[in-house]
Amino acid sequence: MSLPPPRHENCPMKTVYVLNGPNLNLLGTREPATYGTVTLADIEARLKARCGTEGLTLEFRQTNVEGELVTWLQEAGKAGAPVILNAGAYTHTSIAMHDAIRGAGVKVIEVHLSNVHAREDFRHHSMISAVAVGVILGFGALSYDLALDALIAQSKNKS
Ligand code: DQA
Repeated sequence: MSLPPPRHENCPMKTVYVLNGPNLNLLGTREPATYGTVTLADIEARLKARCGTEGLTLEFRQTNVEGELVTWLQEAGKAGAPVILNAGAYTHTSIAMHDAIRGAGVKVIEVHLSNVHAREDFRHHSMISAVAVGVILGFGALSYDLALDALIAQSKNKS
């Protein structure tokens, strides 16, 4: 399956969206052996600091509602902004998010805190990976930082 190029491939990166799906608001107390003790607010603060240094605006959001993630992916696509996406459990089920990424031509890096391939079988398939530019998983909260590093490095290589 070949994908059309992201619609805004040649625009300079000004804003980065970080979209978080269901139950990620519980980070810090949710299954700490799997997800660690870092909170979503901690992750946001770290990424905000890095974006500040790079002159980027950060749109950091979380929702437990699938349709909201679809709407935000469309919004990022329209804005020409890349997305770091941890879709939580919707990763494994959401055709709607797969279609939104394709339809909006939005550049997505899929991230996960845990190594989903070392976990239950139902976490081994992702609806997002085939329409993402890359996937970073298994590094805990650091997965987000690595994804931002990748976006910044790619945008610098272009200019
Ligand atoms: C997760 C992995 C998913 O399987 C799970 O449903 C989550 C978190 C992760 O970041 O490791 O909610 O996306």
